[in-house]
Amino acid sequence: MLKKISLWGLTCLLSSSLLAQKPALIPAPTKAIYPQGAYTLNKSIIIAGPKNDALTTSYAYLTDKLTRIAGRKVQWLYDQGSVASLAAIRFKLNSTADASLGNEGYQLVSDAKGVQITANKPVGLFYGIQTLLQLLPKELESAQPVTGVAWKVPYANISDSPRFAWRGMMLDVSRHFFTKEQVKQFIDEMVAYKYNVLHWHLTDDEGWRVEIKSFPNLTVKGAYNVKKEGHFTDFSKPLPNEPRTYGGFYTQEDIKEIVKYGQDRFVNIMPEIDVPGHSMAAIASYPELSCTPDAVNYQVISGEPFIDWSHGHPEALQDNTLCPANEKVYTFLDKVMGEVSSLFPFEYIHMGGDECPKNYWDKNPQILAMRKELGLKNSQEVQAHFVRRLEKIITSKGKRMMGWDEILEGGGLPKSTAVMSWRGMDGGIQAAKAGHEVIMTPNNHVYIDLMQGDKAIEPPVYKTVRLRDSYAFEPVPAGVDAKLVKGGQANLWSEQLFNYRHLQYMTYPRSFAIAEALWSEPANRNWDNFIGRVEAHMARFDVAQKKYAPSMYEPIIAVKRNTNGELMVQLSTEISGLTIHYSFDHSFPDQFYPEAKGSVIVPKDATVMKIVTYRGNKAMGRTIDLTINDMIKRAK
Ligand code: ACM
Repeated sequence: MLKKISLWGLTCLLSSSLLAQKPALIPAPTKAIYPQGAYTLNKSIIIAGPKNDALTTSYAYLTDKLTRIAGRKVQWLYDQGSVASLAAIRFKLNSTADASLGNEGYQLVSDAKGVQITANKPVGLFYGIQTLLQLLPKELESAQPVTGVAWKVPYANISDSPRFAWRGMMLDVSRHFFTKEQVKQFIDEMVAYKYNVLHWHLTDDEGWRVEIKSFPNLTVKGAYNVKKEGHFTDFSKPLPNEPRTYGGFYTQEDIKEIVKYGQDRFVNIMPEIDVPGHSMAAIASYPELSCTPDAVNYQVISGEPFIDWSHGHPEALQDNTLCPANEKVYTFLDKVMGEVSSLFPFEYIHMGGDECPKNYWDKNPQILAMRKELGLKNSQEVQAHFVRRLEKIITSKGKRMMGWDEILEGGGLPKSTAVMSWRGMDGGIQAAKAGHEVIMTPNNHVYIDLMQGDKAIEPPVYKTVRLRDSYAFEPVPAGVDAKLVKGGQANLWSEQLFNYRHLQYMTYPRSFAIAEALWSEPANRNWDNFIGRVEAHMARFDVAQKKYAPSMYEPIIAVKRNTNGELMVQLSTEISGLTIHYSFDHSFPDQFYPEAKGSVIVPKDATVMKIVTYRGNKAMGRTIDLTINDMIKRAK
């Protein structure tokens, strides 16, 4: 028995040390074996591969990393057949497709002869390159040349392909505008984790961002509002003398450039023109698109409150909807969708359809007359009528329509329309049962605009999605035809994103988790193992000087009162291996302070609890100040 235990202990020790050496790939590959050893890239290397226009950008990116950052001298040999076997890195396109790899898969073998990446299609080689970059030392992430590093690729035999074809990220550029260069950076950062769809939320109440030549006011007027800082949606009402110069838009040339940028990195871009709600920027530009006469006085929203959410559904204080009973609206949409469809080659156009307030529609004489004429029972059916008309317009441009799950309301949604489920999974389940294609984006897992840790420290947003919630995302619910679930997305709304650094903070590490939910097989997903890999990628981000949130190290806080009426704070962590320490005396707690195990009773005269987590002797995350007033509120 004793012998058994010590053998077992030895095995654990060995396997954990081997585990520690394992490359930290995100998303986890389908199959990977890592024999002992590593191949070192010499000072001067040959790279061989097929000459292929689709790979020009990928080859150039790899070359740049290896030459400028790693200081290697790289010579390319194209289409050299057996001579290529001398190369340190070899790319090969299969002449006969390997069915196990599918369209996007690749095989990567690293051994004493070098690295060979094989795929059926150029996109597979592209993902092989992303994996190779992750296998190389973290110093490769530096923006500056690095010396003194052995550029080793661990021996590996990896066979990898995605679980879902649609691995999206949504970026809202309406609430805050991000420049063309920032959008390109966003694409670069997406593809490193094998995302392949950029859902580009181009229009909303706070700004219209795409040049439409038939309606110039959309960007002359509709792209600008008043610059404000603080907590978006709670801003003061703009004054008439405040300059409306904040924002921006993409010219059609910019759009073409970004679409090409995406194509060169195997990213499809899906534009979203959000109608009939979320349309204040369009209405401020062309008030005749509204049913409400007062629209002539409307302005692009600058983050001031204008929707009442207290009833659980949106009630507009200013009518931000396109008028579904006005033919001019359909002419407008026909022209807009015409221009948009010629700018974006992707097969889908997203028409929004979410959160459309109905309180103006319920009372508007023009809409009431239309209801009577068409036999529409309520405003939901009015919206469904609008959606069907828009579907005809989008289809007439040779595109397929997609919308948020509200487009199921009111019935009669054409089967060819795809549904993006955001209010949980239910909309997606209902849509798939009715035969629609579905993209799953349940807000409780993939809304990366929401807080990722405790509200006592995170920049305030109305709800929390922790890293573990994102990691728990499973796109195919029970009872749904998996073929209809094309995939999912991380959705990044930008109300509270005032700059690109904070965009990165909100995106990472949660989009690592979502990338893995969309690429990796469920059997290869494991929380503790994932966290180890997240930490390795955080180290890479440190080198790259990219921002990420440390929230996963910070405690989960619950406050209650015990039967004596005393406040009790329960502290736990979402990752293992941390200890939690606290003070009530305003001093900064460290690893020598009391450790919170179970609940801590709050002394009656305390005004603040300071909390910090440690791993051994190292502080992890930030010190949280939990005030007594906050505790009293939470305990209610
Ligand atoms: C949404 O979050 N309103 C789709």
